[in-house]
Amino acid sequence: MDGADPQRWSAVAEGWARYWGAYPEPAWRAILDLSGARPGTRLLDVGCGAGDLLAYAAARGLTTAGIDPAPAMVELARARLPAADVRLGDAEGLPWPDGHFDIAVSVNALHFAEDTLDALAEMVRVTTLAGHVAVANWAEAAQNDLNAIEEAVARADGEEPQPDGELRHPGGLERLLGEGGLQVVAAGLVELPWHAADDDTLVRGVLLGEDEETVAAKAPVVLAAARRYRTEDGRYCLVNAFRYALGTRPS
Ligand SMILES: C[S@@+](CC[C@H](N)C(=O)[O-])C[C@H]1O[C@@H](n2cnc3c(N)ncnc32)[C@H](O)[C@@H]1O
Repeated sequence: MDGADPQRWSAVAEGWARYWGAYPEPAWRAILDLSGARPGTRLLDVGCGAGDLLAYAAARGLTTAGIDPAPAMVELARARLPAADVRLGDAEGLPWPDGHFDIAVSVNALHFAEDTLDALAEMVRVTTLAGHVAVANWAEAAQNDLNAIEEAVARADGEEPQPDGELRHPGGLERLLGEGGLQVVAAGLVELPWHAADDDTLVRGVLLGEDEETVAAKAPVVLAAARRYRTEDGRYCLVNAFRYALGTRPS
């Protein structure tokens, strides 16, 4: 799927929320804990998708805002969080004034921006001088059970698996924050277990964005590759990982 195309994200918004929305919770928790976020902290989520991080932050008492270029994602986030300031737009042009937030976060989204550094500069601009900027995304393929399944699907299609982007490797996010003029105050790797209740959930989660015909054709490949992650009761647990980095402006 073309991750930079908002219409593609709109088309999968409901499926994204169902299969993957709450999934990065361990990464959100690490970032908010390390930043010292507390009730009243003003948080912006850049590339907020269906609003799952916003819901998590709101439950911790934070004041929440989000932005996403996919109209259906924004609709879902607004419906779930009527009190949040959720806007349609992209990371490269944040429609908030300088220093408006205590923390700006982007999870699994910043690499879709046309220019990652420009997007990061916008996150820095809308954050207070003492505030935090945090970025998180998938760790390199070797850290993720999902990778074995994606590789099997790619090979069945006669394709080579996509190489990992720079930000997924150890040190990649720290380098990005450094290039953006930030001082890294914390960085790490968190494990994210992904559960699928049955074969259908597994196949639809992994093949999100594919049409029904393609899902039916690729399902046997997905199921065969996932056999080692299947439990006796027919569920699946894939252990994957996200990397995150948290920065502030140098004092
Ligand atoms: C993989 S989803 C992640 C959504 C959410 N952050 C989450 O963790 O569930 C990627 C999101 O990035 C958004 N996106 C794509 N290009 C973007 C851009 N230039 N600026 C901000 N968000 C973007 C997509 O619309 C989509 O909602």
